[in-house]
Amino acid sequence: MAKKITDKVTWVGKVDWELTTFHGDELSTHRGSSYNAYLVRDQKVALIDTVWKPYDREFVSRLKQEIDLKDIDYIIMNHNEIDHSGSLVELMREIPDVPIYCTAKGEAIIRGHYHQDWNFVNVKTGDTLSLGENTLTFIEATMLHWPDTMFTYLSGENILFSNDGFGQHFASESLFDDKVDMCEVMYEAEKYYANILNPFSMMAKKKVADLLAMNLPINLICPSHGVIWRKNIPLIIEKYQQWADAYQTDQVTIVYDTMWQSTRLMAQAIADGIHAACPDTTVMLMNAAHDDKNDILTQMFRSKAVLVGSPTVNNGFTYAIAGILEMAKGLKFKKKKAAAFGSYGWSGEASKLITEHLQKAGFEIVNDGIRTLWVPDCDALKQAREYGEAFAAAL
Ligand code: FEO
Repeated sequence: MAKKITDKVTWVGKVDWELTTFHGDELSTHRGSSYNAYLVRDQKVALIDTVWKPYDREFVSRLKQEIDLKDIDYIIMNHNEIDHSGSLVELMREIPDVPIYCTAKGEAIIRGHYHQDWNFVNVKTGDTLSLGENTLTFIEATMLHWPDTMFTYLSGENILFSNDGFGQHFASESLFDDKVDMCEVMYEAEKYYANILNPFSMMAKKKVADLLAMNLPINLICPSHGVIWRKNIPLIIEKYQQWADAYQTDQVTIVYDTMWQSTRLMAQAIADGIHAACPDTTVMLMNAAHDDKNDILTQMFRSKAVLVGSPTVNNGFTYAIAGILEMAKGLKFKKKKAAAFGSYGWSGEASKLITEHLQKAGFEIVNDGIRTLWVPDCDALKQAREYGEAFAAAL
């Protein structure tokens, strides 16, 4: 059902309560998501973004209940990943001549996805489109997180349509940030940033600075996923400034996998050592085989250091640890310290190989790590605890 946001703006998106993964299986979405599209009615009418393809017919059908499609003058596509552009084919079947405003990269992406010769109008930063009383201004946000991305600002209503920026995978019928649990929303916003936007932090930092320098009055930030920021706009902007700037808190995350509990015992002893040396530091232990990979990466994102442990198996490390290391490399975390640990029976390469992967992923290696032969006895656990103390002291 469409929902009125202001006198001129109506939410016409789709809340996806059933979504459990996104980008295939790359990102878990424990709280569902939404694909937010917005209808702006002035003397002219603009539709901003559409919804994910599986909901294309539902989207167009509901849109028809809200407006005669022939009354839509412009379609604005801020970003053309399929979760936002996926309903274009169904929509354009009905209104094939309506111009689509997007960046030049946006046009290329739409053409590459749907192979249609629609009426494209390319825009760049500073270009405007008058709707009558109010005006849309386009602001390119290249690589946040695709080459085509842009924001659109609506004057008068003072709304920033930010697409994926400031978004969260969070399903809610309530629409606004002050109507939902802020702890849940802020966690999902951070998880979204850590797992999707972090590789582009340099651009995010600059874009937030550019936006602030523009001194635009902003009453609402309307992202394409999750709730609309109304009450907590300064908070989410401040968080983006922090997250984009080699974010870390006083936390150490220990990520491990274990076959017969030896590496788990080492992880716990190392955690005990860190806690003994630095009682105020938050220490998180996460089992890579059991805990959600994206929650693990979110905890790594907020950490000043990580320890990664695996038993040696077949001259390497485990499948679960391999997945985390590969994903961490892609996310390009900055200024985080790291080391490796693990148990072994004979060849014992895991710690060395993990250290090499951490180094390639951009972590600052603290030391060569620690290994334990077979099951750790009291002496080995004492060594692991002392290793944790020394690791903490080195941070
Ligand atoms: Fe929500 Fe990058 O699409």
